[in-house]
Amino acid sequence: MTRTQRVPLDRMWYGGDYNPEQWPREVWDEDIRLMQRAAVTVATVAVFSWAKLEPEDGCFEFGWLDEVFERLHAAGIRVDLATATASPPSWLVRAHPEMLPVTASGTRLEFGSRQHYHPNSAVYRRHALRLVRALAERYGSHPALEAWHINNELACHVTHDYSPESAAAFRAWLRDRHGDIETLNASWGTAFWSQEYSDFDQIEPPRDTPSFKNPGQQLDFDRFMSDAWRECLRAEAELLRELTPDVPITTNFMGFFKGGDYWSWADELDFISDDEYPDPADPIAPAYAAMTRDLMRSLSGGAPWILMEQAPSAVNWRPRNAAKAAGWHRLLSLQSIARGADGIMQFQWRQSRIGAEKFHSGMLPHAGEDTRVFRETVSLGAELAGLRALVGTRCPAARVAILFDWTSWWALEQESTPASLSYLHIVFRWYHELWRRGVLVEFAKPGQALNDYDVVIAAGAVALSAEARTELARVVTRGGQLVVGYQTAVLDDSLGVLLGGYLGELQSVLGVHVEEFMPPAEPSLSGGAVPSLEISGLGAGAASEWGEVVRVHDAEVLASFVGGDLAGCPAITRRTDAAGGAGWYVATAPSALGEIASAVLEAAGIEHTLLPDQVEVVERGDHRFILNHSNVPVTVGEIEVAPRDVLIDSVLRVAV
Ligand code: GLA
Repeated sequence: MTRTQRVPLDRMWYGGDYNPEQWPREVWDEDIRLMQRAAVTVATVAVFSWAKLEPEDGCFEFGWLDEVFERLHAAGIRVDLATATASPPSWLVRAHPEMLPVTASGTRLEFGSRQHYHPNSAVYRRHALRLVRALAERYGSHPALEAWHINNELACHVTHDYSPESAAAFRAWLRDRHGDIETLNASWGTAFWSQEYSDFDQIEPPRDTPSFKNPGQQLDFDRFMSDAWRECLRAEAELLRELTPDVPITTNFMGFFKGGDYWSWADELDFISDDEYPDPADPIAPAYAAMTRDLMRSLSGGAPWILMEQAPSAVNWRPRNAAKAAGWHRLLSLQSIARGADGIMQFQWRQSRIGAEKFHSGMLPHAGEDTRVFRETVSLGAELAGLRALVGTRCPAARVAILFDWTSWWALEQESTPASLSYLHIVFRWYHELWRRGVLVEFAKPGQALNDYDVVIAAGAVALSAEARTELARVVTRGGQLVVGYQTAVLDDSLGVLLGGYLGELQSVLGVHVEEFMPPAEPSLSGGAVPSLEISGLGAGAASEWGEVVRVHDAEVLASFVGGDLAGCPAITRRTDAAGGAGWYVATAPSALGEIASAVLEAAGIEHTLLPDQVEVVERGDHRFILNHSNVPVTVGEIEVAPRDVLIDSVLRVAV
């Protein structure tokens, strides 16, 4: 069949991982019948099928997959074809045990679960590409082929590998990055603790050491491993582009995943897709999930993306796995649509009977068709079919950006820092306040032009290059509102301290510098008494996590610390620029952070309303979504929304 027979899918993606090879043939007919009942449009196939596709070295068996393709095609269902490279077969691992990953303490991780390989293995890459080529040659022009799904959740279980092969690749990467050993020594600060190297060959990955590891070595290893995984992605993508240039390529991201710098990975893809498993037992989950959707939209430059996996109900990998109560799955699915997704996929179509994931929910549960979960599967399929008018539409451009920086994430959470802080918590606190006010956010990458935003927030972005700092400073000088939170621009992007009060280029637009860090002790260290911070002024009340001595040279003090060692010290400052912009500095985590967010939004002339608890309002295309994640009815404006319900503009309902 030729490529010209492919017709673009004009509906939402709806379906899930489909693993028929794990089931006897008699189940396959039922699968198709029930998929049609559920209005499934796309099935992700062959994710973990390498051993079935290539049972022996170089011997491919495509018969079963041909049949799966034909059955799906006959039913009008498209295929998101995985390249099956996420779980190498046992014959390959046994022949080449050097491809197995090794931990920082030297333990080799064995065959018997999945992802038993490391990304720097030449043998792995060679065999993976041979499989990808065979799949592309076999199915590249099949009319049911909708997209390529490279690997699966790249780096999910093995982010860092310490094998000899990775060590050698790390040395080559370092040569490339630093050029000569003197530059590396300077960048890593190896004069400290007698760590100088006289040759690249002496360098190892940061394995377990007696005391703190070299921070530069660790950061470079984080970068190197992210690049190594991206190389696996790129190698497959390049081959697929050569063989099937018209078939779009994705790989499933994992939301805010520390192991991979998704800003750089995203460049390899034709469209972004994401896996997200919000915990039904966690009240913060809806807001956190919204944040991940906004990251995906940002990674795709505003273009639609696909929610590639979510659980129809419970997962199997938490200590206790809460089921999704009725309505929750639909709610989170429509949250993704509202925030720019063009498809809703789940893990997985049919709940497994056997294996490590048999207690993970599926669209079709163990108990069969006559179940709440399957009824919800069917009704969600029908609802998404009715939303086809939204396909290809976008959310409005956000006026607020939050800087998101993987380098800072790695750096902030290293050992031997002033306090152990979570980068995601710091970012989420700001995001959450904007979410509660119905303000759409985009994430921005360090160094990118920020001209389109009226408000830019950089918090916990501890290690920024001069270029990134300058770009942030420019927000103020061109009239925008820049909010800088504590532990931002303390270091450059080689982890050298910005001397003279930190902040570098930001000092002049903020009108402050920082003299000393004074994070409060943790309750456990203070014998149980929780040391409290308090501030007066804007956002008055309790504060937590961080305190410091801020020295003001050219800014108003909007809030100050009350009591304790920091009594009277500035906690929140603002410097208004001649151009009308302002640089805000926030030196702690106030409980009333929302008041500060509101003040910044007002200064930028951005409309906002504090919404009822657990309620979300988002626009996409010409439509407005009001999502009520709470268990009580709420009223937004004149509109009443039932518990765990979603209301979409009537304009759209007419179009359905
Ligand atoms: C990940 C994987 C899936 C499955 C799910 C379970 O998202 O990609 O194969 O294991 O987790 O939640």
